[in-house]
Amino acid sequence: MKTKKIYVCQNCGYESPKWLGQCPQCHAWNSFQEATVTAKTLKKTITNSKPLPLSTVKELGPTTSIKTNFTEFDRVLGGGIIPGSVILLAGEPGIGKSTLLSQLAIAIAHQDKKRQIYYLCGEESPQQVKLRFQRLTKNLAGENLFLFPELDVDASITTIQQTMGQNPSLVIVDSVQTMTSQDASGGPGSLNQTRLVTNLWRQFAKETATPVFLVGHVTKGGLIAGPKTLEHMVDVVLSFNGDRQHQLRLLRATKNRFGPTAEVGVWQMTDHGLEEVDPSQLWQQKRTAPIGAAATVVLEGNRPLALEIQALVSQSFLPTPKRVINGLDYNRAQIVLAVLQKYLRLPLYKYDVFVNVSGGLQTREPAADLALAASILSSYYNRPLPTRSWFLGEISLLGEIRPVGQSARRQKQAQGLGLQNAYSWDNLSNLRQLIPLVRPQK
Ligand code: TYD
Ligand code: MG
Repeated sequence: MKTKKIYVCQNCGYESPKWLGQCPQCHAWNSFQEATVTAKTLKKTITNSKPLPLSTVKELGPTTSIKTNFTEFDRVLGGGIIPGSVILLAGEPGIGKSTLLSQLAIAIAHQDKKRQIYYLCGEESPQQVKLRFQRLTKNLAGENLFLFPELDVDASITTIQQTMGQNPSLVIVDSVQTMTSQDASGGPGSLNQTRLVTNLWRQFAKETATPVFLVGHVTKGGLIAGPKTLEHMVDVVLSFNGDRQHQLRLLRATKNRFGPTAEVGVWQMTDHGLEEVDPSQLWQQKRTAPIGAAATVVLEGNRPLALEIQALVSQSFLPTPKRVINGLDYNRAQIVLAVLQKYLRLPLYKYDVFVNVSGGLQTREPAADLALAASILSSYYNRPLPTRSWFLGEISLLGEIRPVGQSARRQKQAQGLGLQNAYSWDNLSNLRQLIPLVRPQK
């Protein structure tokens, strides 16, 4: 068998015939590992398919999708799981990926007794996984739920193909980074291995019309560990985020070949697993707004979500004042601070500014700019904002308050939560009009 040696960047997949200290594509240092490409691995990707006339191609209607009984999950997937699809669930370690997929496995095992569910648990022993299952459900039937601690991808596919026979099945690979194939070089989790492992599961999924879930750990930077390159190989990429210190978890489809990518599912981590949450329940109503707090409504996918932006502005004794921004885009927050400094003559260069979004939530929406400005003013002047108020609008570099989309839906959500006083481009012609809301009356 012919072999060829190449060096592959483990971060972005750049290939080079010789070892390099820095990747010319993604500029990562020390990221090259030797890889062997054998004729066998090359051949594996070649199939004997023929061009088909469009009229003879069988349709994948929504009727064929598998409902999961998890309304939040179905919503994110756009209706359910399409047979033969490969779904990558990406998230940081400890966020609850195994919990989510275990609950999914339980739900499907209960509702479709004929379907066999294979849970490949390379990360934990079957005993550990069973403990988690017992924590998640009281009546664990489990005749059609199989735990499979196999790490070799070729062996697991062969075994599953033999065991499942003609039965409909579902495979969960927890995680893709623990699996290896003898046909690829590199250790578990290396780019070369993960790529081949994903490719083999994809082939299996398409050939047997079995949905396959792949769990992928993401690195600190938020990239799917090394193999960002996995994203184009799968049909759906779900990202599971949240703050480990808080209970809230958000599931988003960042890529979906069969449905929308705008939807978001909201869960709460409890003692007995993840519970679906109605985002409007998260809002805690207070009689008077605390100093430095301003409410806004952002859109997560198509869902309006009320948030409280909290700011702390305190005198700085540092040559460069501190800016700590959690939950909002750092650069957008810097722009809002600069605009307030220039157009409202707020001497923020002498103040440390800390910003937080309540509940560990995050938003990148410019619609939250005005609420951020209001919370900073409130903390700076040490006065609360008017009760039951909320703020909506983007702030431009020229200091204008700009309209944002879908304001009617946000308005409806705010009113439903008892936030009656709206401040936006509708009733504020410039930022200066925010000051009387918070400045101490003489
Ligand atoms: P896990 O699903 O193992 O995370 P991941 O697979 O993404 O690494 O679980 C993450 C955390 O959730 C873990 O610290 C324990 C906690 N947890 C609960 O709080 N309640 C539960 O019912 C379960 C199963 C886990
Ligand atoms: Mg896990």
